[in-house]
Amino acid sequence: MLNIGKHKEPKVRRAGIVSVGKYIPEGVMTNFDIEKIVDTSDEWIRGRTGICERHFVTNGQRQSDLALNASREALARVGWTPQDLDMVIVGTVTPDHIFPSSANTLAGKLGAIGVPSFDILAACSGFMYSLHQGMVSIVSGMADRVLVVGSEVMSSIMNWQDRTTCVLFGDAAGAVLLEEVEEPYGIVDYEIGSDGRYYDLLYMPGGGSAQPATHESIDKAMHTLHMEGSETFKFAVRSMYKTATDLLKRNGVDPEDLGLFIGHQANIRIIDAVTKRLKLRDDQVYNNINKYGNTTSATIPLCIHEAEEQGMIKKGDWVVLVSFGAGLTWAGTLIKWGIDPLPSVAAAEAADAASDTYSEKLKPGRDWVKR
Ligand code: UT7
Repeated sequence: MLNIGKHKEPKVRRAGIVSVGKYIPEGVMTNFDIEKIVDTSDEWIRGRTGICERHFVTNGQRQSDLALNASREALARVGWTPQDLDMVIVGTVTPDHIFPSSANTLAGKLGAIGVPSFDILAACSGFMYSLHQGMVSIVSGMADRVLVVGSEVMSSIMNWQDRTTCVLFGDAAGAVLLEEVEEPYGIVDYEIGSDGRYYDLLYMPGGGSAQPATHESIDKAMHTLHMEGSETFKFAVRSMYKTATDLLKRNGVDPEDLGLFIGHQANIRIIDAVTKRLKLRDDQVYNNINKYGNTTSATIPLCIHEAEEQGMIKKGDWVVLVSFGAGLTWAGTLIKWGIDPLPSVAAAEAADAASDTYSEKLKPGRDWVKR
C-alpha cells in the first residue's frame, strides 16, 4: 500500500479551487525603460506582444518570498493556517536554488512543517502541472488540503542583450488552495501533455549537469533563457486551441456558454488567435499581460485572482484554463466554479474578529498573517 505524506484510504472524490492569492513585486519596468537598454520600442513591444510594463523584484527578494506572500493571502482569505495543509506544490523554473526545492523553502517559511512539499518543473505549464498533481492527490484521498503555487523571478535568467526575449518576461507569484468540493462543482476534467523532442525551442542551456557554470558558459550567456520565438508561437496557438476544444467537446460545453477562458499570458496575439478560433466573446476572456508580461508559471493564478476579484468568475460558471510552455508542455482544465466571491484579507480578518467562534478556531497560528 502507498504511504505518501498523510496517507488516507484511496478514494475518488472531486477537487476544487477554494481560495486564491497573488503577489506582484514592487519594481516596475515600462517599455520606455527597456527602450533605454536594447534596440526596441514601446510601439513594437505593445503591438507584437500586448505588454506595456512588467514588475521585477527589488532589494534581494527571492522567488520563495513572492510565493510566500501569495500563499499567505490565499490562506488568510479562507482562514486556513499553514498547519491545515497536507501538501505544498510549487511550479517554477526560477527556484531560489537548484536544490532544495522551492516548495521545501516555502513550506519552511510558512511554518507548514512535516508536510510533503515539492516543485514541478514544466516551465510556463508549471502551475497547471502542479494543479493537476494537487487535484490527483485530493481525488485519490491522499491529501485533503493542498497549496499550489506558480512563482517566478524571471529577471534572474534574462539576457538583457537579447531584445527578442528580454522584453517579454516579468516576476510574480500566484497561489491557489485546493480542497474536496461537492459535485457538480470543482475540477471536472483535465488534459496534460508534453513533447520533449522540442526541448531546445525554449530552454536555458547552462546551469544544469549538461553544462555546469564555466567562465565560457557565462561569457556566452548560457545561464539565461533562449527561445525560438516564432516556432514557440505556432505551437502555442495549436496546443492551446486543441486542449480547450478537447475539454469543451468532451464535456458537452458549448463555447458560447463558457463563463471564462484564461490562457497562459505569453503574447496577446497568441491568446487572440486561440479565442478567435474558439469564437469567444471579449467578456469571456481575461487577460492581464499588459501589466505583468509573461510571468511563466504565475500567469494563470494571477489571472484567476484578478478575474475573481473583478466578479468575472461566478459560482456555477464554466471556466477553462490552458497553458503551454517549454518542454514542450501543455495543460488545460475545465472547472465548474464552485465558490462564492472570496473576501479580501482585510474583510476575512474583520469577519474573524467579529465572530468569537471563528476567532477561537483561527487563533492558533494566525500570527503569521501579513498585516
Ligand atoms: O511562455 C512561453 C514562451 N514564450 C512564448 O510563447 C513566446 C512566443 N513567441 C512570441 O511571442 C513572438 O514570436 C515574439 C514576441 C517573441 C516575436 O514576435 P514575432 O512577431 O514572432 O517577431 P519575429 O521573431 O518574427 O521578428 C520580427 C522582427 C525581426 O526583425 P526582421 O528580421 O524582420 O528585421 C526581429 O529582429 O522583429 C524584430 N524584433 C524586434 N524588434 C524590436 C524582435 N524582437 C524585437 C524587439 N524590438 N524587442
